[in-house]
Amino acid sequence: MVTKSSSISNRSLSSCDTYLASYKLIIFIIRYPLFTHDFAIFSMHRLRTTARSSKLAAFKCFNEFILIDCQPVFDFLGCKTPDSWLETACKNIPILLINHCYLEQCAARNAVIMMNRYPSKTDLLLSMSKLAREELIHFERVLKILNKREIAYKALKPSRYAGLLQAEVRKQEPDKFVDSMIVGAFIEARSCERFYHLAPLLDAELTKFYTSLLQSEARHFEDYLDLAKKYTQSDISDRIDFFREIERNAILSPDPQFRFHSGMPMSHQSAA
Ligand SMILES: [Fe+2]
Ligand SMILES: [Fe+2]
Repeated sequence: MVTKSSSISNRSLSSCDTYLASYKLIIFIIRYPLFTHDFAIFSMHRLRTTARSSKLAAFKCFNEFILIDCQPVFDFLGCKTPDSWLETACKNIPILLINHCYLEQCAARNAVIMMNRYPSKTDLLLSMSKLAREELIHFERVLKILNKREIAYKALKPSRYAGLLQAEVRKQEPDKFVDSMIVGAFIEARSCERFYHLAPLLDAELTKFYTSLLQSEARHFEDYLDLAKKYTQSDISDRIDFFREIERNAILSPDPQFRFHSGMPMSHQSAA
């Protein structure tokens, strides 16, 4: 799902590398039509400007954009984020960032809750510990952007999204474990999908930032899913299908409130 960036040694960017980078940009645009105009312009601008001071950094940055494949995330989800949600998000950047910041904190907290709940599952402990650390780093990065933009971080009324999924988690073990992991996978996958579609619509700083989050969020979705399968003897595809439908309804049904995971915007929507 995520192809690792090719390692670049200490050699400088040759004309051959520049040609290769240009070629990769064209392939990228063909492969990801949603990352079209704005993103391509940003990428070209980035390559040109940073190449003067650090050709290697520019090439590395370029490679990261090109080598992230989110198709497994799209295949896992039951629907694409509606265009009307993306339009609303672009008009509510402060709320988007405040809520995003809070969600990174929640993602770290959820990982630690899983560690406390299942201490005998060593692979889960290692995976969730790493995930929690990454989410807290994301939290700090969003908080820095909020501070830079002089947007006050504050408590907002939470979205209905996670609650709708959590309400369907079965209460008895080992069912509770399987459902919790599947819910975690859907939340991570939807976050990744929204970063992907939002990135080319935002300003250069947020485009770069949201693109940089794609790789880890795509991996987090697989981490949860792998754990669900690893510690379960039975087939979990029915439960994945069940939660896919719940998640799909949460995304496509009208939602009076705008949040990072909110549903279909309504004409009189509340951002508070
Ligand atoms: Fe994150
Ligand atoms: Fe994540």
